[in-house]
Amino acid sequence: MTARFQFQLAATDGRARTGVISTPRGEIRTPAFMPVGTAATVKAMMPESVRATGADILLGNTYHLMLRPTAERIAALGGLHRFMNWERPILTDSGGFQVMSLSGLRKLTEEGVRFSSHVDGSKHMLTPERSMEIQRLLGSDIVMCFDECPALPATEAEVAKSMQLSMRWAQRSRDAFGDRPGHALFGIMQGGVTRDLREESAAKLREIGFDGYAVGGLAVGEGQEAMFGVLDYAPGLLPEDKPRYLMGVGKPDDIVGAVERGIDMMDCVLPSRSGRTGQAWTRRGAVNLKNARHKDDPRPLDEACTCPACRNYSRAYLHHVVKADEIIGSMLLTWHNLHYYQDLMQGLRDAIAGQRLAGFVADFHAMRAAGDI
Ligand code: GUN
Ligand code: ZN
Repeated sequence: MTARFQFQLAATDGRARTGVISTPRGEIRTPAFMPVGTAATVKAMMPESVRATGADILLGNTYHLMLRPTAERIAALGGLHRFMNWERPILTDSGGFQVMSLSGLRKLTEEGVRFSSHVDGSKHMLTPERSMEIQRLLGSDIVMCFDECPALPATEAEVAKSMQLSMRWAQRSRDAFGDRPGHALFGIMQGGVTRDLREESAAKLREIGFDGYAVGGLAVGEGQEAMFGVLDYAPGLLPEDKPRYLMGVGKPDDIVGAVERGIDMMDCVLPSRSGRTGQAWTRRGAVNLKNARHKDDPRPLDEACTCPACRNYSRAYLHHVVKADEIIGSMLLTWHNLHYYQDLMQGLRDAIAGQRLAGFVADFHAMRAAGDI
């Protein structure tokens, strides 16, 4: 264990990288997928089960936790790690993005965002300074800058104005974060799908200086082709020796494409959320367990998967518990989906280390094209 936060690149293959982020709470193997634990829980999973899928780090949310149970209460109870019984690294998002998508009435100013809670309508203010304070109270290992991600559709002028506000907030976040050994602060690049704006944003973030750099403002409805268009150049605008985090991505093929383009970290609610609706992700693509074709099927969801859902249960059983809305349906499919995502990350890491990423990606796509059994 190291007392410092550091990133060590181990190998590259094309633009793809593999390495290790070391933190006082443990190592994060990259490329890394971070399961989302918004409300101090990865829904339907015990923390030890999340770890058993292979996760090195979880994502938590400033926005949800500040409203309920509050950052001050979590701090008084010993911090987020102890509160939720996850002692490994936690990255927290800064709140601005969730305010825009979840809260009621909100008002954006230079100072920050005033909004009403989606829980009880109470009034709150988030600023770069308050977001840094909340993430410190939570005890987050990787703190995200307070930023704004414009809702689409937006004009280029709107995206430019928003990005420039986010860069002023990035400086205020840096100033408020201060010097906290063992904890990291990541900047967030904005700029939509406009290269000039992405370049301006990256230059500003590099000038301020961060422990890692996120690519924000993607996977917000622009489509995979436009997202990959940005990822063809955006990671290259960021320092090579620092982790690069693509926020809110994605489906398995998004993840593979992002890793091919030089992304080191990702998070998404997809595997956990879709597990609660009967949707499974496998080597052969998406499988809807609600479909009646599984009703009498004694075979496992994926015979090659070593998760409990695949080792111990039939498709017929999974179909039954999903249809009957039994809690174990959510538990098993969430476990499987997170296990599949972590298996995919391990496959990507091994392939990059072995200089055989192109073959791995070709097999990945061929297997999906073949379809479900
Ligand atoms: N999650 C997904 N996209 C974003 C983004 O652009 N900013 C933040 N803070 N969180 C995100
Ligand atoms: Zn499985």
